[in-house]
Amino acid sequence: MNGNLFDDNICPRPPSVEHLSEGAMLLRRFACGNAAAAVQCIYELAKLSPFRHMVTPGGHRMSVGMLNCGLVGWVTDRSGYRYQEVDPEHGLPWPPMPAMFREIAIGAAIRAGFQGFEPDCCLINRYEPGAKLSLHQDKDEATFDAPIVSVSLGLPARFVFGGLARNERPRRIVLESGDVVVWGGPARLAYHGVDTLADGEHALTGRCRLNLTFRRARA
Ligand code: SIN
Ligand code: FE2
Repeated sequence: MNGNLFDDNICPRPPSVEHLSEGAMLLRRFACGNAAAAVQCIYELAKLSPFRHMVTPGGHRMSVGMLNCGLVGWVTDRSGYRYQEVDPEHGLPWPPMPAMFREIAIGAAIRAGFQGFEPDCCLINRYEPGAKLSLHQDKDEATFDAPIVSVSLGLPARFVFGGLARNERPRRIVLESGDVVVWGGPARLAYHGVDTLADGEHALTGRCRLNLTFRRARA
């Protein structure tokens, strides 16, 4: 085993799997071995497509900084939520999805029981202390056949994971760097969000949490 794979500061224990609900799994530390390289990839991608705070259709500036890589990217502005092939920041295509990202996503999907996942989009979220993502469903995709794969990097955050109805009482799970959550099938439209990020310092990311959300946006 790689000596620093379970380095105390980066990843203290070996991986484990927790069942969250029918179709939803938490793969603890699944991406620890790739976390440092993934963070470096994100910094490179951000040179091509900067993190920005998008505006919701209701006019609210999101506290989470975002960019995309892949064939399409998720965007929001006053005219709505959607996927598009170009970055509205400069009108160029989104940067390609790094091969390593795709491999993490496909490997996690298989580990959670979803074969054949082909993500065409990776949304990259940056949470600084105070940032949060309110409870929502991922439903702007053209198909719900594919799962969602979500990779946490850097500072820990409280992930809120509910059911298919907004009023179903959600559970709260602390996600740490390298943890991966996969939800699909009967859980594909589960409500989820992220509580306000607490201040802290992480060896990989400094005062920030990064998250990769892999999706199949086009049918
Ligand atoms: C998302 O729902 O897009 C991201 C969730 C997360 O940051 O863990
Ligand atoms: Fe989401």
